[in-house]
Amino acid sequence: MKPILTFFLTLFAGTLFAQNVQSPSKNISLDFKLVDGKPSYTVAYKTKPVVLQSLMGLKLKETTDLASDFVVDGFANNTFNESWKPVLGEQSSIVNHYNEMTVALRQQKTGRKLNIIFRVFDEGIAFRYDFPRQTDLNYFIISDEVTQFNLTGDHKVFWIPGDYDSQEYVYNESRLSEIDNDKLNLNNGIALKTIGGRYVVQSPLMMKSQDKLYLNIFEAAVVNYPVMHLNVDTKNLRLNAQLVPNAIGDKAYLQAPCVSPWRTIMVSDDARDIVSSKMILNLNDPSKIDDTSWIKPMKYVGIWWEMHVGKSTWDFAGSQNAQNAATQDLIPSGKHGATTANTMRYIDFAAKNGFDGVLVEGWNVGWEDWFGNWKEEVFDFVTPYPDFDIKAITEYAKSKGVKMIMHHETSGSVANYERRLDRAFDNMKQYGYPAVKSGYVGRIIPRGEFHDGQTMVNHFNFVARRAADYKIMVNSHESSRPTGYGRTYPNYIAAEAARGNEFNAWSTGNPPMHETILPFTRLLGGPMDYTPGIFEIKMNVYDAKKTEQVHTTLTKQLALYITMYSPLQMAADLPENYEKYPDAFQFIKDVAVDWQESKYLEAEPGDYLTIVRKAKNSEQWFLGAITDENARKSTISLDFLTKGQKYKAVIYEDGNDADWQKNPKAYKIRTVEVTSKSKINLVLAPGGGTAVSFEPVK
Ligand code: NOJ
Ligand code: CA
Repeated sequence: MKPILTFFLTLFAGTLFAQNVQSPSKNISLDFKLVDGKPSYTVAYKTKPVVLQSLMGLKLKETTDLASDFVVDGFANNTFNESWKPVLGEQSSIVNHYNEMTVALRQQKTGRKLNIIFRVFDEGIAFRYDFPRQTDLNYFIISDEVTQFNLTGDHKVFWIPGDYDSQEYVYNESRLSEIDNDKLNLNNGIALKTIGGRYVVQSPLMMKSQDKLYLNIFEAAVVNYPVMHLNVDTKNLRLNAQLVPNAIGDKAYLQAPCVSPWRTIMVSDDARDIVSSKMILNLNDPSKIDDTSWIKPMKYVGIWWEMHVGKSTWDFAGSQNAQNAATQDLIPSGKHGATTANTMRYIDFAAKNGFDGVLVEGWNVGWEDWFGNWKEEVFDFVTPYPDFDIKAITEYAKSKGVKMIMHHETSGSVANYERRLDRAFDNMKQYGYPAVKSGYVGRIIPRGEFHDGQTMVNHFNFVARRAADYKIMVNSHESSRPTGYGRTYPNYIAAEAARGNEFNAWSTGNPPMHETILPFTRLLGGPMDYTPGIFEIKMNVYDAKKTEQVHTTLTKQLALYITMYSPLQMAADLPENYEKYPDAFQFIKDVAVDWQESKYLEAEPGDYLTIVRKAKNSEQWFLGAITDENARKSTISLDFLTKGQKYKAVIYEDGNDADWQKNPKAYKIRTVEVTSKSKINLVLAPGGGTAVSFEPVK
């Protein structure tokens, strides 16, 4: 459908101006108002207010603000309705349907212009600031954003504390008025941000009102701009945009013409509308890569979990002191994971079980002192340890039809990584690695920059763009959280940017509700490399003294392949552990990672989630159902299956006495014949889950 554009010029330059725009379904209504020259907006859902009058605008450094003294020069309305095909995704086609309104503002005293663009979708609203070309505001510095979100009540919120360097936190569930970063029991000591005496939380922020409306505040298309956190006014139930500063306290350096990211508010009385929304992707630009044929989904295994559980090490020598005084050569500690022989073992395992790729961490020189020293040059990203024969490994992987996944841990020295990036990518091309997992552990160099500041946002986006030139896919860890840029650069196939499964190996872990929240928060911006599939749940199998454990049952680990969407999925446990449970491992071997269609059957943030997905170009369906610490029963109608077709359903479910803490490995597998008229009962243990594969039978 062609966009319909109408542009009305107002006949008067008014400081009082109001205009409304509604969603295509008319359920959501947004009002823009200029009050005493200050721009503001309100949002209603099915006529109920959900965001009360909230101010908009920006503060500039060394000049007046862009938040007051405005008159309206005119406005334009537009309707857009198209569908587009993601290269990889939860569905093969995505509808992008919204009503748009652009309000052109001019400051009376300065004459400066600012446009605000609103888009209203069926599941939420978005707005962004648009800075037109103008002589008086060419290059400028944003010192703050005035953007407010005035809420209608003391909602339930799922929040993690503000931190400019990390999102790797456990979610807290409380009323908005109860947000209190000082009461958190943090085990990683990262500084919390309290600004102006108020606590800061991260976005996306998922909320539920007392009258059962689901709300989500986030942002989309964060490009050349810092990440937006939220400053919480617990008394007035107000959130304020809190931009992440750079090393000298500025927020963003911009040059007109340019735009800010979109500020988004999703709202629905059905939680499934939020968790299935493609609004964040829709707000990003279409793919800038013409030939995307080299961008492929991947299931992979890797030399990875064995380091996290302490079976082997990333480093070759144990420490830098373990060096031969005469030759300067490192003396092997004997615990190095990334050896040629071990890599070949993983390649064999991948080939035997149909995995596409093998990741190897700790393959390159530098891991003896990589962590916590803020060193300029730890890694060169090209020099293997002496026991990692990259040439032989490349040839072996090729002979087995397995792709190797590169690992570039930067240890936060981004300056070093950017200097070496082209050589690092050339090296990958030389050995035929199609994908890289990057890492940003520790404090950033350039010193003083934060992971979530404008400089680093630009770095993460730049790496995706540069990688596209080399036809390389990127999976970043410890990056700022994605906001849909993967639509524009579909080779940016996954990121971590939240607390992943790894925390279960060596910390207090991720409580059972964690995975029921991530799809409502982190995953809205793009796929997460959560690394599911851990079968040996308790870490005391590696060391009797260990008390850590994965906070799920075994079959919940299977269900995560469906509920945590990613076109890059790891089977994270050790090959020897999978060999102990071949019947349960079958699901990981079978499950697809790229989808034709997805249906969200049941959803409640913090409690449960049930999703079914149809594999791309296939008649197979897969179901994943997860619960929090509470046991759960439900009955699912299989009416999504093709009518008249019989299917073999293999149901992987919690054993009768399964429990994530007491008996996490108890599971049952049953096979039944079903049609679209059948129903199945889901019985989930505390911290449990069910996974089902549906295969048509002739
Ligand atoms: C943290 C990443 O999340 C993890 O996957 C990786 O193994 C380590 N950093 C080392 O790079
Ligand atoms: Ca991490």
